[in-house]
Amino acid sequence: MARRNELLGLGLLAAVCLLFIAFSQKESPRYSRALKYEELYDEGLPEAHPNASLLSVKEVVRLQQSAIRYALKDYPFPAGRRLNDYTLAAGGRPLRTVIVTTWRSGSTFLGDVINAVPGNYYHYEPLLDYGIIQIRGPPHADSAIASLRSLLNCDYSSLQNYLEYGKTHTYLFMHNTRLWGLCETFPHYCWNATFLSSVCKVFPFQSMKTVRIRLRLAEELLRDEKLNVKVLLLMRDPRGSLQSRKHRDWCPGEPDCDKPNLVCADMVADYSAAIQLKKLYPDRFRAIRYEDLCMDPYNHLKDLFKFFGLYFHRAVREFLDSHTKKDVGGVSSTSRDTKSAPFHWRADLNFSEVQYIEENCDQAMKLWGYIKASNESHLREFHPLTNYSIE
Ligand SMILES: *[C@@H]1O[C@H](CO)[C@@H](O)[C@H](O)[C@H]1NC(C)=O
Ligand SMILES: *[C@@H]1O[C@H](CO)[C@@H](O)[C@H](O)[C@H]1NC(C)=O
Ligand SMILES: *[C@@H]1O[C@H](CO)[C@@H](O)[C@H](O)[C@H]1NC(C)=O
Ligand SMILES: *[C@@H]1O[C@H](CO)[C@@H](O)[C@H](O)[C@H]1NC(C)=O
Ligand SMILES: *[C@@H]1O[C@H](CO)[C@@H](O)[C@H](O)[C@H]1NC(C)=O
Repeated sequence: MARRNELLGLGLLAAVCLLFIAFSQKESPRYSRALKYEELYDEGLPEAHPNASLLSVKEVVRLQQSAIRYALKDYPFPAGRRLNDYTLAAGGRPLRTVIVTTWRSGSTFLGDVINAVPGNYYHYEPLLDYGIIQIRGPPHADSAIASLRSLLNCDYSSLQNYLEYGKTHTYLFMHNTRLWGLCETFPHYCWNATFLSSVCKVFPFQSMKTVRIRLRLAEELLRDEKLNVKVLLLMRDPRGSLQSRKHRDWCPGEPDCDKPNLVCADMVADYSAAIQLKKLYPDRFRAIRYEDLCMDPYNHLKDLFKFFGLYFHRAVREFLDSHTKKDVGGVSSTSRDTKSAPFHWRADLNFSEVQYIEENCDQAMKLWGYIKASNESHLREFHPLTNYSIE
């Protein structure tokens, strides 16, 4: 639906593009038939656009750049600032947001909400190629943080593993809807580091979510003043995340994913790190619980967008309207009744399973404000949240 709306916008853009293309005639004679932007996005496939394969990287990047300029023509940048101030291509600095979380904690939903902002480039789960592990320190921390930093700088030159992995796991890019539109039309460029580095640089907003590094490591990104990144820690009740993970084929048997003691030790470590980061970077670090977000998504998101420095665009509202009302779609769908979604585990786990998690999560649950169930009937109806504070 959001995509659809974007396409309508792009339809209008065709006219702009025709002009743009007319002006670039002298340097690109191959544009003998003006390629309409909505065609590029709508039909996409190279068979339908034999000329798509003739465009150079530079030409494709230019097309994307004008699409962004068009999509953001009404965007209220802060006073005195404009699009170029935010693009690496023009020597500017993007608004960068990073969500640090773990598996099945609602980050797909939150990531897609942020990506609904026009002009956003979404680094979806950049550490997928590390497998089902948590990165807490050596041996993987340095290379993982280096990868995140490269991506936030739109530098794909040293990310061959990641790109190779992506070729056979295309969902790596599919959440990055604007890039994926380009991939569908220009598949020969999709996994090309040169192309990715240049196209990434024309986007003013860069968002990222990762479920594989623990918060302590994110300090290295926050410390980098040049990146000026905002970091959000997204937390979830371990009973909810562990229940949800039971049904994923990639989780059972992977200790970092399915062992309550490891999951909750990470929550405790994240809590200490959160206190530190909140002190050191009060304007660039925040934490939120998935349950709080779901119970009042509009207000929390407005607040989060303010924190990120992003405008709460009508495209975001439309995305929310179409994704928060009723439960449609499958398990990895981001459409759900957000008010009941976070508490599903109360019906899906029996009391002994809940107790087993709680025994391993005593401290984590106390720190993050999650209440224990007293007995089977209490479990089915209680409200598991209380207050917490990282101040
Ligand atoms: C591709 O370009 C050639 C000339 O460069 C043109 O004759 C042809 O019609 C174009 N095909 C499409 C589908 O745009
Ligand atoms: C990526 O694209 C550029 C520009 O077309 C090309 O020169 C380069 O060889 C490509 N790289 C790979 C790895 O295919
Ligand atoms: C609770 O669920 C687990 C896993 O499905 C099962 O092995 C166990 O027997 C159940 N316990 C009770 C008391 O129903
Ligand atoms: C279950 O726990 C609730 C809340 O602590 C309590 O009020 C209720 O009496 C308990 N029920 C049984 C059957 O123990
Ligand atoms: C929660 O709020 C109560 C009452 O305001 C307060 O006494 C308690 O310390 C708070 N707990 C946390 C973890 O902040």
